[in-house]
Formats: sequence, structure tokens, C-alpha cells
Amino acid sequence: MKTLLEIRSSIYSDGGQSSRLADRFVAHWRAANPGARVIVRDLAHDPVPHIDADRFGAFIATPEQRTAAQKAIVAYSDALIAELKTADVIVLAVPMYNFSIPSTLKAYFDHIARAGVTFRYGEKGPVGLMTGKQAYIFAARGGRYTGTPFDSHTTYLRTFLGFIGIADVEFVYAEGLHMGDVSREESLANAHARIGEILEPVLEAA
Ligand SMILES: Cc1cc2nc3c(=O)[nH]c(=O)nc-3n(C[C@H](O)[C@H](O)[C@H](O)COP(=O)(O)O)c2cc1C
Repeated sequence: MKTLLEIRSSIYSDGGQSSRLADRFVAHWRAANPGARVIVRDLAHDPVPHIDADRFGAFIATPEQRTAAQKAIVAYSDALIAELKTADVIVLAVPMYNFSIPSTLKAYFDHIARAGVTFRYGEKGPVGLMTGKQAYIFAARGGRYTGTPFDSHTTYLRTFLGFIGIADVEFVYAEGLHMGDVSREESLANAHARIGEILEPVLEAA
């Protein structure tokens, strides 16, 4: 049975433009994959704590050294990683907030990047351990940045996901959402069309 994990990071939860695009994709994907499991993690409803010295200390302590509080911290991170591991398909709904990803998503990433668990350091550098997954990213922005140095989303998300072994990454952009009605409507229509293109082979195979 296939599993899809959708992670939303808009402050508006399912009302965000990034969430709406991701939800649209997931609804079509679900129709093409009857019986598949869909897990939704909404970081606005269920935020992950920010990383701090206590949390990182728990991660790097050996299992025998860990206190009860550290064990609880690690168990929480382990549960997030186990959820990610079960997913064949990862859908990320990512708004641009102040030229970056939402801090809630960064906090989530800080809990799933664990040496020896989701990546390891080899002789030739880091090796990602979360392989065999396909990721789709729905990036919503008020302005327009693709192809410019200000598109921090694309480089950062490809780098981070690649670091943990997720190299198959497809972006769908909704840009210029705050640049007037025409810009918004055109951009959303383009994003919807892109979703259709991505899912066409999946729907044909179903
Ligand atoms: C706190 C905040 C910061 C924002 N910063 C930016 C920004 O740096 N660049 C940009 O193009 N749009 C920015 N926007 C606009 C959002 O990218 C836009 O509203 C987008 O639709 C957000 O995605 P969402 O609807 O899924 O939350 C910002 C919006 C908010 C609420």
C-alpha cells in the first residue's frame, strides 16, 4: 500500500494558498491511488518545538546516557522520522515568509535531520538515508522569484531534502500572489495546470 505524507506549513493551515495547492494535488493523487494511505501533518495546528541545546544534546547522547527527559525528546523525533520513513510520496506545502521557509518547517527539519538515522557521514561526505521517495513542493509567494537569487526556497529545499536522501523533487510554484488579481489568477491557473501535467501519467496508469 502506497503512503503519502502531506506537510503543511502555512500559518493559515488548510486556508493557505500553498496548502490549497497541495490539497488539490493530494485529492487527485488519492483518486489515482485508491486504497493508499494519506497522512497530513499540519505544522500550524501541531507545531514542532524549536531546536535548542537540550534537544540537540538529547539527539547526540548515546542511548545508555540519556535521561528520561532526553528519551522523551528522542522518542518525539523518532516518531516524526518513522512517519517520514513510511511515506513513498512527500508533499510539502511551503509559503515564502520573509524570504525563507516558515520557521515551523525549519523546526520540523531540525527534528528529522539526525546523524546515523536519516543521514550519515561517509568517506566522501554526507550520505542521505531516506532514499526511494518522491517529493512534490507547492511553493507560494507574494512576489516573483524563480530564476533569481532571491528564490531561497528552491536551493534550500533541494539541498536539505537531498542531504537526507530525497533527490527526486518536483516544484510547483504559485508566484506573484500579491501582485494584483490578474497576476494571482494567472499564477494559480498555471499551478493547477502543472498539477494536471504531473499527475497525467499517474492517472493514466491507474
Ligand atoms: C509573515 C509573512 C511574510 C511574508 N514574506 C514574504 C516574502 O518575503 N516574499 C514574498 O514574496 N511574499 C511574502 N509573503 C506573502 C506570502 O508568500 C503569500 O501570502 C503566500 O500566499 C503565503 O502562502 P500561504 O498562503 O500558503 O500561507 C509573506 C506573508 C506573510 C504572512
